[in-house]
Amino acid sequence: MQDETTPTPVPTLFTWEFAADPYPTYAWLRENAPVHRTALPSGVDAWLVTRYADARQALADQRLSKNPVHHSESAHGKGKVGIPGERSANLMTHLLNIDPPDHTRLRRLVSKAFTPGRVAEFAPRVQELTDRLIDDFCEKGSADLIHEFAFPLPIYAICDLLGVPSEDQDDFRDWAGMMIRHGGGPRGGVARAVKKMRTYLAELIHRKRENPGEDLISGLIRASDHGEHLTENEAAAMAFILLFAGFETTVNLIGNGLHALLRNPEQRERLQLALAEGDESLLATGVEELLRFDGPVELATWRFAKQELTIGGQRIAEGDPVLVVLAAADRDPERFAEPDTLDLSRADNQHLGYGHGIHYCLGAPLARLEGRTALATLLRRLPDLRLAVDPEELRWRGGLIMRGLRTLPVEFDPRT
Ligand code: HEM
Repeated sequence: MQDETTPTPVPTLFTWEFAADPYPTYAWLRENAPVHRTALPSGVDAWLVTRYADARQALADQRLSKNPVHHSESAHGKGKVGIPGERSANLMTHLLNIDPPDHTRLRRLVSKAFTPGRVAEFAPRVQELTDRLIDDFCEKGSADLIHEFAFPLPIYAICDLLGVPSEDQDDFRDWAGMMIRHGGGPRGGVARAVKKMRTYLAELIHRKRENPGEDLISGLIRASDHGEHLTENEAAAMAFILLFAGFETTVNLIGNGLHALLRNPEQRERLQLALAEGDESLLATGVEELLRFDGPVELATWRFAKQELTIGGQRIAEGDPVLVVLAAADRDPERFAEPDTLDLSRADNQHLGYGHGIHYCLGAPLARLEGRTALATLLRRLPDLRLAVDPEELRWRGGLIMRGLRTLPVEFDPRT
C-alpha cells in the first residue's frame, strides 16, 4: 500500500491555510504521492491524482464512471457525492453524472441548442451587462469585486441565455447566493436553493413548450436527434446543470483572474497596454493562462472505478472514488515551463482547466466570452484598480471542487 512507500509527514489537506494556497501541497503530492488516497471533509475516502500525464489520462478513461451507482460506498455514502439536494430534486440525469451511451445522446442534443454561434451572438449582451454592473459602483471609488461584479455577471448572463424573464432574475441571484454561501458548509441551504430552482425551471419549461421563443430553453425543447427529443425532466436537468456548472465557475474565473492580475503588476500592465493599443491577442492567451495558473475548478467532478485499474502505478480498487486535481496537474513542471509563473502570453498551454475527454466543458465558449469581456472592460474603465486590503487578509472559500475568493475589496479613482 502507498503508506509504506510514501515519506512522511504527508501535508494536511483541506485546512484554511491549504485553501489560501494549495499549490505547495500539490507540488509535494506530485513529487511524493502522485496518486494519493485521502479522507475528504465529507468522510468519503478518495484517490487524488495530481500529475498532468496521469490526470489527462484519467479524465478520458472510460473505466472511470461518472455515475455514483459505481461508488463502493453508495449505500452508506448516499448523499455525500454529487450536488446536494439533486436526488430529491430528480435532477440526476445530467451530463456530469452519466456515461455513454446516455451521455452521448444527451450531449449531442444539448450541443444542438447550445452552439458556439449562439454564444457569439450573445457577445453584445454580455458587454452590456458588464458595463451596467461597473456603472453601479464606479462612482464610489471602492467595491467588492466578488459581490458587485464577478458574482452577478454570470448569473444574469446564463439567465438571459436560458430565457428567464428579467423580472425573475433577481430570484436566481438570491438562490445562487444561497448555493455559493453554503457551498462548503451545511447542505440545507444548497438543497433549498436547488429545490426552488427546480420548481421554477419545470414551470418555465412548461410555459416555453406552449409558447416557444429564441432562447436556449426553447432550443432545448426543440432539439431533436433522429426524431428523439429531450423529455421535460431531461430538459429541466439540463437547464439546471447549465446554471450549476456555469455559475460559480465563471464567478471564480473572474475573481481568481483579477486577483492574479492584481498580484502580478507587470503582467497586468502588459495586458492594459495591449488593450489600450486595441490588441486583443494577449487577452485571449491571458484568460487561458489565468485558468491554468489559478483556475476555478480545483478538482474535477467525481469519477468511480468500474473495475480495478492502475493510475500512475497505483492500484485502484473497483468502486473507489477518484478525484483528478486539475489545479495540481496544471502546475506540473513535467508539462509546463516555470509552472508557478504567470505568463499571459504562454503559447504552449494545453491546460486541463476545462477538463478533457467526453466531459470537456460544454460552456467553455461562454466562459471565455464572459472572462474576456469582464477582465478587459474592468481594466479599460478602471485602469488604476488596486487591492484595498493586504493580500494575506483575503479569504478563500474552503469548498472541495471549486477554488474562489469570498471577497475581493478594491479601490480606484472614482469615475462618473
Ligand atoms: C464540464 C470547467 C464554465 C457547463 C466542465 C468540466 C470542467 C469545467 C473542468 C469537466 C468536469 C469533469 O470532467 O469532471 C469550467 C470552467 C468554467 C466553466 C473552469 C469557467 C471558467 C461553464 C459554463 C457552462 C458550463 C459557463 C454553461 C453555461 C458545463 C457542462 C459540463 C461542464 C454542461 C458537463 C459536460 C459533460 O459532462 O459532458 N466544466 N466550466 N461550464 N461544464 Fe464547465
